Amino acid sequence: MRMLLANAEAWPGFDTTVELLKNGGAGIDAMVAGIAKVEREAKVRSVGYGGWPNMIGDMEFDAGVMDGTTRDVGAVGAVPATLPVAALAHEVMKHLPHVMLTGAGARRFATERGFAVDDTLHPDSKRVWWERLQKEMSPEQLAAFPDIPLAPLSNTITDPERVRDTTVFLARDAAEGLGVVTSTSGWAWKYPGRLGDSPIVGAGFYADSRYGAAACTHTGEMTMRCGTSRSIVLALRLGYSLEDAVKLAVEELSELKTGFLAGVVIHAIDAKGNHKVVNYRNEEEIRYWYWDERMAAPELRVAGTI
Ligand code: GLY
Repeated sequence: MRMLLANAEAWPGFDTTVELLKNGGAGIDAMVAGIAKVEREAKVRSVGYGGWPNMIGDMEFDAGVMDGTTRDVGAVGAVPATLPVAALAHEVMKHLPHVMLTGAGARRFATERGFAVDDTLHPDSKRVWWERLQKEMSPEQLAAFPDIPLAPLSNTITDPERVRDTTVFLARDAAEGLGVVTSTSGWAWKYPGRLGDSPIVGAGFYADSRYGAAACTHTGEMTMRCGTSRSIVLALRLGYSLEDAVKLAVEELSELKTGFLAGVVIHAIDAKGNHKVVNYRNEEEIRYWYWDERMAAPELRVAGTI
């Protein structure tokens, strides 16, 4: 059964991916095409052009792609001036012996693969970033900015609008292959060079067509410490139900007592056609998109808790 699961931010590209899956397209190609639309949509304020910059006002994108049939992975982190960035992660998977490129090297590879150098800082994001930064800095810091220590600012200006989101797509295609694609601009006002979980295989995403696939949104600093997506797929391999596999991952997250602790949303599917989306610790209602080939149209549903 063909299916597609994605988080609420997926709305600009979800239908595109559904149509490609309906037409027999490969899951990864269909998801990369859908996510490209999310990345170009300025109204999505956590991914691509609509996202927020890092602490010094630069956009840095993260993305990951995994084919659950081959377990091939491509990922890029802290990439400047590049959209669509999930497509760049897919190029890494297809054309390099490596799994991940970051920063200037990723941008160099983007040029090699024919990606334009884009102006990726939306004027509204720039305005909000600068207004917020001015409020947080002393006159001395402001005068010397950006040649100041940034770490002292990170506790006060980390994620001023609680934007730690991402877009994640998980699909089962006509060949019964499972795959995952992720993309994000990362936390707003992150320290330059910070990678979230979206490009980290095993943390922000994982897929194995024999068992299942998982992807996470929100606080990557937690899922990276727990290897959350890999935990879920390994638990499925060990015979857990999807419900119990996700429960195990939530237990692991809840065992963290130090460091930055906040919300995580887990999205998971299994090879039998089940899906589960769980909101861990986020106070706001979390919604997600779901479609499978038995349905007339995609539905926006509400995530549960464990
Ligand atoms: N999960 C997105 C991030 O941590 O950047």
